[in-house]
Amino acid sequence: MSVSARPLKARPCAGLRGTAAMPGDKSISHRALILGALALGETRISGLLEAGDVLNTALAARAFGAQVTQDGPGAWRVNGTGVGGWAEPSDVLDFGNSGTGSRLMMGAMATAPVTAVFTGDASLRSRPMGRVLEPLTLFGAEYEARAGGLMPVTLKGAARPICVDHLVSVASAQVKSAMLLAALGAPGRSRISQTSLTRDHTERMLAAFGAEISVEPLPEGGEAVFLTGEADLKATPVAVPRDPSSAAFAIVAGLIVPGSEVSLPGVLLNPRRSGLIETLIEMGADISISNARESGGEKVGDLMVRASSLKGVEVPPERAPSMIDEYPILAVAAAFAEGRTLMRGLDELRVKESDRLAVIVAGLRAGGVTVGEMQDGMIVEGRGGEVPGGGHVATHLDHRIAMAFLVMGLGSRHLMSVDDTSMIATSFPEFEDLMRHLGAQFENA
Ligand code: S3P
Repeated sequence: MSVSARPLKARPCAGLRGTAAMPGDKSISHRALILGALALGETRISGLLEAGDVLNTALAARAFGAQVTQDGPGAWRVNGTGVGGWAEPSDVLDFGNSGTGSRLMMGAMATAPVTAVFTGDASLRSRPMGRVLEPLTLFGAEYEARAGGLMPVTLKGAARPICVDHLVSVASAQVKSAMLLAALGAPGRSRISQTSLTRDHTERMLAAFGAEISVEPLPEGGEAVFLTGEADLKATPVAVPRDPSSAAFAIVAGLIVPGSEVSLPGVLLNPRRSGLIETLIEMGADISISNARESGGEKVGDLMVRASSLKGVEVPPERAPSMIDEYPILAVAAAFAEGRTLMRGLDELRVKESDRLAVIVAGLRAGGVTVGEMQDGMIVEGRGGEVPGGGHVATHLDHRIAMAFLVMGLGSRHLMSVDDTSMIATSFPEFEDLMRHLGAQFENA
């Protein structure tokens, strides 16, 4: 629990109805600020997510010398320095709860001749940074971290960076992206490969900013990204689509609360982010997608979700990267389904904002659901719509755990409470208001 914890209860409620405009995508928002800060000229961003994690990235971009200005809600301007032009921050950079902001910024500064100190909240200071820092040394960067590669971290960017050929061994878009951002500042052509297909927003946005970038499939699966360094990035407008990882909570709420009908316009439908929708549809969810279109190099569409009887499924482990942030809420959906849901290939969940596997399992059990935990997954015994609820969940500074178990309370027989909702503001400050607008009932615990 944080010092100023805000506990909350969610009551079982009648049908959720209406339209909810989700906030901007978190991954794309971070990248828009960072590429804006690396580009020459003025990048105009619309629909930026104004949540704690992204605002910390904006502060860091300023600390590295970019001009970052807010013109109105979601409307931001970034005047960048050009690749290699970042200044040395005069103070420690505090990234709060954000793994993405901190790791991407480490990459972006690793090939500039500056030194910076990175820290964060108790959750971020317990997360592994060696996965990013070690490969960044290949470019010539140097670092010091606490034992186990933990923050606070001091990173010294390479004064004479060299390009690299590196295979990213973890299924992490953050590590891949950090390497690509570092490659921007290294002369020559770097190759960054990964055997799993993680989200590709960095690659798409780099292409839009004029980087020389190409992607080739690897014979053994996965792909290699080639990027030419000393890049001249040109400022370009970014329209941030609405975040599917935030929409996930409203989608599952709409499915499990009987009588619901919820519409969610303009949600990002990048296939590498759509694993939850694919899985829910396999479970029998009534989700229709209309008006599928392209916006700013990304696919978006309007979703209509109606309450549905779900059935348990086996989720293919190789789908995990495309729904890695959605397992807390998928586990809640699985609790309401008829039959068993098996989820595996989830080792990465152990190093998220909390040990999400353990925390999900504890939360489901608190709500009266039988669940088995494995090192890399879980088996949820679905209750066929009749979830007892009535439990209290410890959120461990994890925004998605708080939101998932509040949603569980909306569909259970008895209310669910969570010990702290303050972290929800790191990714989705409007969560409570938007859900109340649809008919959700929350009360202070
Ligand atoms: C993100 C990548 C994922 C995800 C995170 C956002 C990104 O982390 O969990 O919320 O924007 O690249 P990993 O790369 O560590 O899997």
